[in-house]
Amino acid sequence: MLHLAKPTRPDWAAYAVMHAAEILLDHAHCEKKAASTAVGMIFRYEERTELMEPLSQLAREELAHFEEVLERLHERGIPFRRLPAGGYASGLHEAVRKQEPHRLLDSLLTCALIEARSCERMQLFGEALMDRDPALGKLYSGLLAAEARHFRRYVELAELYFDKAEVSARLAELAIHESEVIAAAKVEPRLHCG
Ligand SMILES: [Fe+2]
Ligand SMILES: [Fe+2]
Repeated sequence: MLHLAKPTRPDWAAYAVMHAAEILLDHAHCEKKAASTAVGMIFRYEERTELMEPLSQLAREELAHFEEVLERLHERGIPFRRLPAGGYASGLHEAVRKQEPHRLLDSLLTCALIEARSCERMQLFGEALMDRDPALGKLYSGLLAAEARHFRRYVELAELYFDKAEVSARLAELAIHESEVIAAAKVEPRLHCG
């Protein structure tokens, strides 16, 4: 699905449902981080004018998701609080090459893969929640279409600057790295835990 090298372990959804409140809190942080990453790229790549509007749009959508998740937390009486960073994003970042333009390609494709994994997990979590908390289940079925679109958007942005064969070869390499990082991640109530 969506170029992921390996699917999520089969028992993850049941684990996530048992820890739904923590997953929801972590999810709020993920949306905030997704917005911040897009804004960070706007600052870093100001000379790449084609990126400005799409990244701004992505950041706004992620902030709208952030607000939506904050509302669900509030409804459930779960206070928003700081969470220590999980190892997933930093693990993915290790594969990002330091030299430009490779850094740009790897950053865009790493963002794409985070979107892809979020989309896969939101689908699993949303389906598993339908009996216990249908309102929350619906939130996830609604969000996953946006995350799938974000995956495609990041790949298309990469294709503006790199040829398709290079993009797809690098995406396949980074997808293997992503699946290794998530498999090695600690089992804890996070959207991107092991
Ligand atoms: Fe989002
Ligand atoms: Fe997204």
